Amino acid sequence: MSKDIKIVMTGDRPTGRLHLGHFVGSIQNRVKLQDEAEQSFYMIADLQALTDNANNPEKVSSNVLEVALDNLACGVDPKKTIMFVQSKIPEIAELTVLFLNLVTLARLKRNPTVKDEMRQKGFGENVPAGFLAYPVSQAADILFCKSNLIPVGEDQLPVIEQVNEIVDDFNRFYGKTFDRVKHLVGDTPRLLGIDGNVKMSKSLNNGIYLSDSFEEISKKVMSMYTDPKHIHVKDKGEVKGNVVFSYLDIFDPNKEEVAELKTQYKKGGLGDVIIKKRLIGVLENIIGPIRKKREELAKNPKEVMKILEEGTNQAQKIAQETMVEVRKALKINYF
Ligand code: TRP
Repeated sequence: MSKDIKIVMTGDRPTGRLHLGHFVGSIQNRVKLQDEAEQSFYMIADLQALTDNANNPEKVSSNVLEVALDNLACGVDPKKTIMFVQSKIPEIAELTVLFLNLVTLARLKRNPTVKDEMRQKGFGENVPAGFLAYPVSQAADILFCKSNLIPVGEDQLPVIEQVNEIVDDFNRFYGKTFDRVKHLVGDTPRLLGIDGNVKMSKSLNNGIYLSDSFEEISKKVMSMYTDPKHIHVKDKGEVKGNVVFSYLDIFDPNKEEVAELKTQYKKGGLGDVIIKKRLIGVLENIIGPIRKKREELAKNPKEVMKILEEGTNQAQKIAQETMVEVRKALKINYF
């Protein structure tokens, strides 16, 4: 494979609707790259979602359509991107089993992303083995289609690092088969939650969703964390750590006006309501068209599932080709 050929691959766990953090961290890059890449893949990672939802398969299966809608509404285009469902490609599971032999338990336990998530979910030693090993199955997601450029949120970088270790070991043991992969993080690698928490996250309940109504957006922005000492309009306000300004910095196209507002806010005389109203307008300009397209698409869920079915068939062919090569490399191509 020539070095400059880009095969892009990425995915989401179907555990809920997607929010603005996903949008700036990865979805915008997906939409951009599908025009530049030789081939793009978008996967709904239902098996990965099951690794910590084994007792709640309904939650996972019901969200497959939701994340597909979110991505289509943002402009992921099935004509340019092969959109598919992880569990429908058994070759990914087969490749995962082979990769598991290349990774030690100690290494799995050291992965900072997994460690963080384990802490968040309170797993401790009772972590499901499948969850601990999800970076290995993610290596299979990425490598079955020989992809080499992975748009992900910043939190996923340790996973990508582990994927490259698997690539190196595989090639060393069985002959050169896979290329190392590169990650690509969006311009805003991490979006604050509306409560000022360092991360927008479904489990923290601090997100603005790509499907939120205008009323929901308004309510959330009005509740945003600003500067607790900025009580009266005339008071001097702090811009640093102020969620409203950090969102304006990211989403408001008029940087000059935002700079002026900041100066005024710091001097005193600018109320929170004014900057919040501005942000509501800015966010509605972005989410409004996405919401509208999403509502249109949601009228025909069968058509969306058809897109996933067709994409899955395409991905499956590629997976089968890769597995012929992989089984040969491992000398398990008996007959
Ligand atoms: N782990 C990713 C997340 O939680 C989802 C994912 C699964 C993924 N397989 C992938 C991302 C392959 C990129 C490539 O966001």
